[in-house]
Amino acid sequence: MTVLVTGAAGFVGMHVAQALLSRGERVVGVDNLTPYYDVRLKRARLARLESQAGFTFIEADVADRGVMLPLAATQSEVTRVVHLAAQPGVRHSLVDPFAYVEANVMGHLVMLEVARRLPRLEHLVYASSSSVYGGNRKLPFAEADRVDHPVSLYAATKRSAELISESYAHLFGLPQTGLRFFTVYGPWGRPDMAPWMFADAILSGRPVTLYDGGRLKRDFTYVDDIAAGVLGCLDLPPDGRAPRLLNIGNHRSEEVRRFVEVLETALGRRAIVVDTPRPPTDVEETFADISAIQAVCGFVPSTPIDVGVPRFASWYLSWREGG
Ligand code: NAD
Ligand code: UGA
Repeated sequence: MTVLVTGAAGFVGMHVAQALLSRGERVVGVDNLTPYYDVRLKRARLARLESQAGFTFIEADVADRGVMLPLAATQSEVTRVVHLAAQPGVRHSLVDPFAYVEANVMGHLVMLEVARRLPRLEHLVYASSSSVYGGNRKLPFAEADRVDHPVSLYAATKRSAELISESYAHLFGLPQTGLRFFTVYGPWGRPDMAPWMFADAILSGRPVTLYDGGRLKRDFTYVDDIAAGVLGCLDLPPDGRAPRLLNIGNHRSEEVRRFVEVLETALGRRAIVVDTPRPPTDVEETFADISAIQAVCGFVPSTPIDVGVPRFASWYLSWREGG
């Protein structure tokens, strides 16, 4: 089959595209290579994918309907779409709010319109986020929990995209599943996320800033588990029986300071820790109830942080030494 993957030059997109190529699918990657973080990293991810048969790349902005809608007409062989392109990062959404609405709301709407125009579309899987749960204190987070109190604009845009998708499912029967990813980490990760920033600080001898002393808890999920879950959902028959929103996480809530300890061990260096109050965008804890995705597509995460963090650290060291 041919799968359209948006955000293919991104962290999760690269791993999803790689997993699809590895099982023999054709992948059409779309990305606008936005300079939110080092474009060299995005190009290096793309180079990996482009060296393999079956991958083609289109540089385009998913929010640009003047480009994307005509493009749909050229993609009649596409049967599945994985929509991952977005402006990520919870804290940065205080800095550049317009970028979030543009990419995550308008970009999402345009991708639904693209999907509607694909004559052979069977399933659209898109990335939502654990951040939609806001300060929910009922743990673990389940899909039926209330999600009406986003604490960052990023979260608000991800929830908006879910609601727009719901309307398209109702109005047009568009077969789609939103996956709420929980803090993803691993090789080829994002420079704006904690694992990369912590590793960089540890190796440079700079302080690691831990919000609330590292007592915040996150359901850190290894990227290969995420990619496997995305493919598992993508393969579901488009019969409309599957729930349209699913958590995908590791189902383990870890203190950030424990994550740092595992990283210190993996890098063989101690962190200089600075304690600072958590920003208003960051919740105390995330913890995924994954029983729904388990029931629907047999998803079982297999990578605890003691295994995943050393893999990230070893990739990070090689990237730092020149890629
Ligand atoms: P990423 O920034 O590495 O990847 C996103 C990619 O989308 C980038 O390559 C970027 O250039 C591209 N992009 C951004 N705006 C675009 C636009 N308008 N048009 C075309 N391409 C555009 O981020 P990621 O961590 O790989 O995240 C992938 C998806 O998963 C996003 O939707 C994100 O919100 C979601 N998500 C990520 C995490 C996580 O922990 N990484 C957690 C929850 C949800
Ligand atoms: C991550 C992604 O960046 C979001 O795109 C995504 O939507 C979100 O996961 C999600 O799960 O939905 P976050 O959990 O904040 O957001 O991921 P990191 O930036 O890697 O932070 C991990 C933890 O470290 C958080 O608890 C954060 O508060 C903490 N942190 C981060 C610090 O203590 N210090 C820092 O300097 C940075």
